[in-house]
Amino acid sequence: MTTHTPVMVREVVAALDVRPGGRYVDCTVGAGGHALAIMDEAAPGGSLLGIDRDAAALAEARSTLERYGDDVLLEQGDFADVDRICREADFAPVHGVLLDLGLSSLQLDEAERGFSFQREGPLDMRFDREQQLTAEQIVNEYKVEDLADVLHRYGEEPQARRIARRIVERRPLRTTTELAKVVEEAVGGRARRQSHPATRTFQALRIAVNQELLSLETALPLAYGLLGDLGRLAVLSYHSLEDRLVKNFIRRESRDCLCPPRQPVCTCGHTAVLRPVVRGAQRPSAGEVERNPRSRSARLRVAERLPAAAG
Ligand SMILES: C[S@@+](CC[C@H](N)C(=O)[O-])C[C@H]1O[C@@H](n2cnc3c(N)ncnc32)[C@H](O)[C@@H]1O
Repeated sequence: MTTHTPVMVREVVAALDVRPGGRYVDCTVGAGGHALAIMDEAAPGGSLLGIDRDAAALAEARSTLERYGDDVLLEQGDFADVDRICREADFAPVHGVLLDLGLSSLQLDEAERGFSFQREGPLDMRFDREQQLTAEQIVNEYKVEDLADVLHRYGEEPQARRIARRIVERRPLRTTTELAKVVEEAVGGRARRQSHPATRTFQALRIAVNQELLSLETALPLAYGLLGDLGRLAVLSYHSLEDRLVKNFIRRESRDCLCPPRQPVCTCGHTAVLRPVVRGAQRPSAGEVERNPRSRSARLRVAERLPAAAG
């Protein structure tokens, strides 16, 4: 059976400065690997609230974290609602919040979920299987220009228009492997490429189906708002679109004034509420990438809530 190997797990526990008795939120609990490492370090007396959109992931997390009983709370939901979920559970302020973005190996490896171009499956790609919108609808129903826009915006696909036109010509498409073949036809084979030609198309569709960037943009200020004095926010991202959002958020919230540089007097009144804990992004070690190739694109960014800003 597939398992999900948590990425940069030691670095994440250190980034969150996990201490016995601490209270933590894992916004993307998945199979519970990071959550378990956090709880092991937070014992005795630690607690954790884990969120995931995917009911199957939560079932897995429940079994991983069983030994911690009532000290672990698990909730199905979108991390864009992290503030409401935590306040309803009376779980704030907290010492740390983790977001480990994207999808897990459990989701990628299950053909039925439709995330992988290497496995024949339906064009689904929903984290939350109760949600209406699927990849099949985007692929078969969007106008060519809207489809090209999705591929360009969320996949940074240089050949977005060409791929979108070919998809529209070949409709209806029902499976992941049909779609992967059509993309390959549109942009040529794998020669001289580092990754499969459908990689960016699949990434783009997954982001669009789950509105991933919108959820992340909404969640970052809410997550920071849950932190107590010197609480830590740690975010693991796996592609440049996510990482840019996180980087810009931390950069902005670490500055005292956001006025244009040439303006002589500050009129915005913005004050810094965060401090980056490490400069830039941490990357997995060469050894980890070798052991777990899926960690290779990971970037970890960490910030601490400044005491004066805690309310
Ligand atoms: C990379 S996996 C997390 C793996 C986890 N850290 C572990 O150690 O097992 C990302 C998880 O986030 C979930 N997810 C993605 N977007 C979400 C969102 N907006 N709200 C809640 N969960 C989300 C996915 O369903 C997936 O289970």
